[in-house]
Amino acid sequence: TKITYVMFDGGERAVDLKTGVNLMQGAVANNIPGIDGDCGGACACATCHIYVDAAWLPKVGPRTAMEDSMLEFAEHVEANSRLACQITVRDELAGMVVRLPEAQH
Ligand code: FES
Repeated sequence: TKITYVMFDGGERAVDLKTGVNLMQGAVANNIPGIDGDCGGACACATCHIYVDAAWLPKVGPRTAMEDSMLEFAEHVEANSRLACQITVRDELAGMVVRLPEAQH
């Protein structure tokens, strides 16, 4: 499943991720800078903050309550802010674009 990560400086990295991995794991495995995943994907660190491109929000679905409360620790949170470790790759997300926030650079 192709996912494109857009860096804060505008650089793009398109990677092919397997179904079932989350977007934090996918970024770390592909050395995408700006997603640290300090807590290992437990929704407990907010170092995997990303913005989901508006077109994909309906497919990604709403934030969980835990994700919402963790995002309070992130900077520059927007309506489309998500934690990458809480988004699992599946076929419907093919072609999705996510952006990285400034604070993680
Ligand atoms: Fe820690 Fe996502 S990796 S909240």
